[in-house]
Amino acid sequence: MKALHLNDGNTIPIVGFGTYKATEQEGIVSVQNALAHGYRLIDSAAVYDNEEAVGKGIKSSDVSREAIVVTTKLWRENLGYEQTKAAFEQSLKKLDLDYIDLYLIHWPANARNYDNWQKTNADSWRAMEELQSEGKIKSIGVSNFWEEHLKALFETAKVIPAINQIEFHPGYWQPELTRFCQENGIAVESWSPLARGKVFGNELLQAIAKKHDKSVPQICLRWITQHDVVVIPKSTTLKRIKENIDLFDFELSKDEIQQIDALPEMGFSGELPNIWPERIPT
Ligand SMILES: NC(=O)c1ccc[n+]([C@@H]2O[C@H](COP(=O)([O-])OP(=O)(O)OC[C@H]3O[C@@H](n4cnc5c(N)ncnc54)[C@H](OP(=O)(O)O)[C@@H]3O)[C@@H](O)[C@H]2O)c1
Repeated sequence: MKALHLNDGNTIPIVGFGTYKATEQEGIVSVQNALAHGYRLIDSAAVYDNEEAVGKGIKSSDVSREAIVVTTKLWRENLGYEQTKAAFEQSLKKLDLDYIDLYLIHWPANARNYDNWQKTNADSWRAMEELQSEGKIKSIGVSNFWEEHLKALFETAKVIPAINQIEFHPGYWQPELTRFCQENGIAVESWSPLARGKVFGNELLQAIAKKHDKSVPQICLRWITQHDVVVIPKSTTLKRIKENIDLFDFELSKDEIQQIDALPEMGFSGELPNIWPERIPT
């Protein structure tokens, strides 16, 4: 499978596996199934409360630890230098691993919710840089960072984030932010690549799927990977787990990509990094 080269020398498979909302038992089984069917990137987060399940799924699979890119994320309540170090150790313990491949700040401190949001993000980042230099994390990155949050981080960062994980699916794909990241050597990873099913009824996606004899979810995922963006679809259904990685026996034309690019806004979560945790009505 295609992999992206990160700015720190590591690589990341272009298709990975999401685990948000997977319960304890679902988490173990679905991670086992994902690994058995070729996924080598697993996305978790402290706030999903399933790191233990993800760790058990990894341990009980036949795939060696070194072959898997394990991601987890720092929750916003734990931003800050000491808090980041403590939260990281807790995630490592819950996952029952010796190191994490990719550790992300889940949401930036922002101007609405923090007095000195720049310092809060910078303090967490410094802690993550130290953890990386100690060998406890291979790659460090961010999630839901807009250009303003990235530029502020660049002021003090010694390490440029390897990844920015953002909402990216047909109908809401943040092209300017994606371009800014890619031009600055930051790989983009898409969360909710299927918009949690909210775009499946779209007629254009259905027509393109029919033409290629593929499903609408496969068209969404292929479109994202053809933008050189990593996808991490979540499913606890075996048939869908297999379907979501079966993406490379067809290719979308430039014209089809442009048509999907131009779809009107749909499926947006309503979560904006500059005001979140307050949702805007959708
Ligand atoms: N950084 C962030 O702030 C952030 C935010 C949200 C998500 N994420 C990460 O991104 C991952 C993916 O996003 P997501 O879970 O929000 O949404 P998603 O992957 O877009 O959609 C998941 C939903 O689609 C269904 N589904 C999956 N494959 C399907 C298929 N082939 N056909 C029909 N339905 C299908 C799943 O159902 P079943 O499971 O029942 O099959 C589930 O209900 C998350 O799990 C998480 O790891 C990160």
